[in-house]
Amino acid sequence: MKLFYWSKILYLVSFLAPTFAGVFAGGLSPQVPHRLIHQFPVMTWLQSVYVRSNGDILTSTASPDASVYYVSGVVTGEPVVSLLHRFEGLNVTTAMVEYEPDVYIVIAGQQSTIGRGINGTFGMWQLDFRPTVQTNPGSPNITELVHFTEGGLCSGFDRLPHAPHILLVSDTTIGGVWRVDLRSRQLDLAIEDIHMRPLPWALTQAGITNLHIRNGYIYFTNSYEATVYRLAITEDGYAAHDGDSEVVKKVRSLFVDNFDFGPRGGDTIWAASHANNQLLAITSDGEDTVVLGTPNEMTLAGPVATMFGRLDNDTDTLYVVTDGGLLTAVNGTTVEGGKIVAVDTRPFFKSLLSDASELEDL
Ligand SMILES: *[C@@H]1O[C@H](CO)[C@@H](O)[C@H](O)[C@H]1NC(C)=O
Ligand SMILES: *[C@@H]1O[C@H](CO)[C@@H](O)[C@H](O)[C@H]1NC(C)=O
Ligand SMILES: *[C@@H]1O[C@H](CO)[C@@H](O)[C@H](O)[C@H]1NC(C)=O
Ligand SMILES: *[C@@H]1O[C@H](CO)[C@@H](O)[C@H](O)[C@H]1NC(C)=O
Ligand SMILES: *[C@@H]1O[C@H](CO)[C@@H](O)[C@H](O)[C@H]1NC(C)=O
Repeated sequence: MKLFYWSKILYLVSFLAPTFAGVFAGGLSPQVPHRLIHQFPVMTWLQSVYVRSNGDILTSTASPDASVYYVSGVVTGEPVVSLLHRFEGLNVTTAMVEYEPDVYIVIAGQQSTIGRGINGTFGMWQLDFRPTVQTNPGSPNITELVHFTEGGLCSGFDRLPHAPHILLVSDTTIGGVWRVDLRSRQLDLAIEDIHMRPLPWALTQAGITNLHIRNGYIYFTNSYEATVYRLAITEDGYAAHDGDSEVVKKVRSLFVDNFDFGPRGGDTIWAASHANNQLLAITSDGEDTVVLGTPNEMTLAGPVATMFGRLDNDTDTLYVVTDGGLLTAVNGTTVEGGKIVAVDTRPFFKSLLSDASELEDL
């Protein structure tokens, strides 16, 4: 099966990697409290996670098909999972947002093998549940809002704070950012930067992956470089004058996938290392810490994306979705179903505080 081709190569790389000093951040077995919310069948690769303001979670898949699932009852401990939509004829979904109450925007397209998008097949779809919002899960009215005819694998997006109908969309194949106006349904390749480009040695043509707009910058990952960059943008979503990207942090990992800031909008970056089976926290002073998982454990087998809870009682909870080890099987052999894991981030900040007080004691 083609899928495991990558898996083998990445596993070989990860096997060799510890011989190069400092590649792995995780020698110890870091553990913060965490609990399983739901696990899908084997071969399910969860690609994105979106937490609604009511605590429910949406997650979407890159294998075995392009589906969006709805998870209610996340905080009650009795989650109920239902299929919201399966895109017929497509086989990967990448990013998701609730655009208006009960209206979701999802990027979906086709890939030849996982992570290798087929050029010209990606689109931004609207799933509008308003007509049937009373029924659970309801049947959405589905419209393709824009099609990336000239694009490759579109992997992430964020909304402009001052014009939330405008989205910046990362195109990992091209190595650039599309600016999409959902009102006019116009798009243009607004930002290109050398660090967004795919690396020549990478296993797939993949550069910029995830992006977040924050304080006048886009923060983005170049996954194979394991680096978070930022680039200054204008209020209307173009690169600011003479703006080259700058390194926020290069982490000791083989790969870095999607991330979130938080908790409660804070500056710490919570990144899914994917191939390393670890969750990383990068604080604003540039320190990176493995918060959960080690390369040879199933705790977070192939973490792909993260998002913080939004209810009063789960704002410290980071929801992490996994591919179950489909990218890099744990120890080269073990896979499981992709899962949603709730991670309690409070001990991490407590440990930072105790470090600080130790310093004061000296
Ligand atoms: C995804 O669908 C396309 C178009 O049908 C097909 O060529 C491709 O092999 C599929 N990819 C996977 C991983 O099944
Ligand atoms: C579905 O969406 C389309 C496009 O936005 C709209 O024209 C149509 O009226 C909607 N149908 C329903 C049942 O709401
Ligand atoms: C897809 O598009 C990218 C960027 O334009 C290009 O480099 C690549 O060769 C294309 N892939 C295929 C299979 O045509
Ligand atoms: C991977 O191998 C290590 C070392 O042999 C072992 O301790 C660990 O339990 C293995 N992990 C899994 C998921 O089998
Ligand atoms: C958290 O808040 C939600 C919504 O207000 C509530 O349904 C849930 O029971 C709360 N959970 C706990 C553990 O207090």
